Amino acid sequence: MRIGIIGAGAMASALGGGWAAAGHEVRIGARSADSARALAAEINAVRGGSLPHDHRQVDANGTPAAGLHPADPATVLGSTPVDATTIDAAIAFADVVLLAVPVSALTELLSAHGHDLAGKVVIDCTNAFLPDESAPEGVTAFVLSEDAVAERIAAAAPKAHVVKAFNLIAAEVWAGTDRVFDGVRLAVPICGDDPEAVRTVAQLAEDLALQPFLAGGLHRARYLEATSVFTVGLWFAGCDARAMLPPLSAAFAVADA
Ligand SMILES: NC(=O)c1ccc[n+]([C@@H]2O[C@H](COP(=O)([O-])OP(=O)(O)OC[C@H]3O[C@@H](n4cnc5c(N)ncnc54)[C@H](OP(=O)(O)O)[C@@H]3O)[C@@H](O)[C@H]2O)c1
Repeated sequence: MRIGIIGAGAMASALGGGWAAAGHEVRIGARSADSARALAAEINAVRGGSLPHDHRQVDANGTPAAGLHPADPATVLGSTPVDATTIDAAIAFADVVLLAVPVSALTELLSAHGHDLAGKVVIDCTNAFLPDESAPEGVTAFVLSEDAVAERIAAAAPKAHVVKAFNLIAAEVWAGTDRVFDGVRLAVPICGDDPEAVRTVAQLAEDLALQPFLAGGLHRARYLEATSVFTVGLWFAGCDARAMLPPLSAAFAVADA
């Protein structure tokens, strides 16, 4: 698959590194040519090692740190080097575009490039977090600065096939190789209106050794956005958000007939 990534930060590195390692053609398009080049070089340097979310994983020569193993999930060698390019060129190249930028960048980005996204699968992994001013002194908590970012993207790029995914979990986790926790494979809820686009993103999740959960249309993406801000707040408060939810087998008091 041809994947254009807009942004050259933590999410671009984590997801772009994983997809490149899985054999996809990835181009990084950033407003800073230096940042795009640096990320492409970092990903290319560690391919065959592990996923490059963190410069500490590679030494000055780009060699993977000890302990990282090519046989880990999502570390299969890809065949095409990752390229750095402009935002325009990354979009033009791509079948799938990942928007890996802050929400505050979206208005400008979409007004310049919204039309170019027509016909493409656009993955929105963004979170509109703001500090929660009402949180007690010393407590880190967040609220959403807006309720429905994915729907806003779809309105600004009406011919794109927008899919919300990968926003729930930290870049470090996507970049890592741990995929099964307490016997359960890590899942990616996916919301989108175009079935083919959703299938494409589900495949991209599987390519990262993740389990796709098809979670409904784009109108439900706002629940993923709210879930993210809520669970991150719990994690910052030292609560294991996973403990809120029983396994499926125990999820209902009365079993279905
Ligand atoms: N990091 C996580 O753990 C995580 C997890 C889930 C979701 N997310 C979401 O994923 C998105 C990206 O997060 P990130 O952690 O990758 O951010 P990041 O590391 O700060 O990188 C953001 C990238 O966006 C670029 N950018 C900023 N403003 C821009 C603009 N106006 N036009 C074009 N590019 C612009 C930055 O370029 P410059 O370097 O030039 O500023 C940088 O390359 C955010 O919406 C975030 O909420 C992040």
